[in-house]
Amino acid sequence: MKYHLITLGCQMNQNESERIAAFFEENGMQKETLENADIVVINACSIRKSATDKIHGKMKNIRKMGKKTVLTGCVLKEDLKKMEKMFDYMLESHDVANWPFFNQKKDFFQISPKRKGPSALVSIMTGCDNFCSYCVVPHTKGREKSRNWKEVVEEVKKAVAEGAKEIWLLGQNVNSYSGGTTFDELLRKINEIEGDFWIRFTSSHPKDFSNEVIKAISECDKVTEYLNLPVQSGDNKILKAMNRPYTVEEYKEIINSVKKTVPGIVLSTDIIVGFPGETESNFRNTVKLFMEVEFEMAYISCYSPRPGTVAEKIKDNISLEEKKRREKVLTELLKEITLSKNEKYKGEEVDVLVLKSKKNLLMGKTRGYKSVTFEGPQKLVGNFAKVKITKVSPWGLKGKLLS
Ligand code: SAH
Ligand code: SF4
Ligand code: F3S
Repeated sequence: MKYHLITLGCQMNQNESERIAAFFEENGMQKETLENADIVVINACSIRKSATDKIHGKMKNIRKMGKKTVLTGCVLKEDLKKMEKMFDYMLESHDVANWPFFNQKKDFFQISPKRKGPSALVSIMTGCDNFCSYCVVPHTKGREKSRNWKEVVEEVKKAVAEGAKEIWLLGQNVNSYSGGTTFDELLRKINEIEGDFWIRFTSSHPKDFSNEVIKAISECDKVTEYLNLPVQSGDNKILKAMNRPYTVEEYKEIINSVKKTVPGIVLSTDIIVGFPGETESNFRNTVKLFMEVEFEMAYISCYSPRPGTVAEKIKDNISLEEKKRREKVLTELLKEITLSKNEKYKGEEVDVLVLKSKKNLLMGKTRGYKSVTFEGPQKLVGNFAKVKITKVSPWGLKGKLLS
């Protein structure tokens, strides 16, 4: 049988797809283009309505092709009802071994992911216990469950031995990791693994972000100077309505401590604009926080009511047009901050992990997760390179290959 796998959603879903693909191939199936596949799997996401619209969009075309279809991944019960008729099967990703085509028993995490490129995604935990009032993840993924640290360390060692140069430790809330040790200790254990590689992690929740984690970032040479710490809003009233149990003042304290302990850290965040009841003055507080922290990257989303969540019951009283305006205000601000921050790289020599190429143009990331493009041989993909930065823009750096 030939399969085609479509992945929507976050890095965790990508990692699940890598395990699904590996299991398929261990069992004699081959990867194919959509047109030539016998079976099409959509590993879906329902974080925002736009994500579920993508599933509908893809299926319109696929159903005409008469393929066998499987829906898996993060889909809300309430969204599933609308999709029942579109798919032949709706199956749990973690049960892939037990899907009707296989009928086997195998622990999902014992499947070695089919990785591509120098970045290895390593899930350290699944699920979420936080129940932010807008979010589907606790509903689709269930409660938090950490993998034992020994299993995680073994997986990282294997990935490094296979050539990985960057390890992404993944979880919805990595700071509450509890697989036989704490998250900061896990960082230290992974840092001790021999080899030339970088360590990154996502996502962090401010409520669990400890001084020990900050110390570990600063003391572990492989842990990069990049932190995504989602704040969601810069207004205490909105944070409370979102069920995010910290204040803007507490968030800023963490940021100050990170800046002091990890010089040069690049800060990134997640924001939702237009949460029900967000007034212009609440939004202005988010703008203010942006300027104070000087975020260099932000994942900005327009609020999308999701069925079954607590926030869905509050009237979605902000028009899409207004949400888009707020999104634009923050994006413009981000552009300004990033451009001025990027200026300091001009003339600097930076280490770049080369992730991909387009003819002789190479693209990669610095330790601080800045995008860099430069000319060089294709064989550098998957390796580190030294690059001298010659030009900067808000979204990235351009440079010349040194070695
Ligand atoms: N666990 C991570 C986030 C996972 S979801 C954390 O707590 O930060 C990724 C991002 O999607 C969230 O940070 C949030 O900004 C956004 N998001 C989640 N639910 C949303 C919704 N209903 N509407 C709009 N954006 C949403
Ligand atoms: Fe969703 Fe993240 Fe909140 Fe969990 S912590 S409920 S994944 S936004
Ligand atoms: Fe990720 Fe979407 Fe699930 S963001 S955890 S794939 S709901």
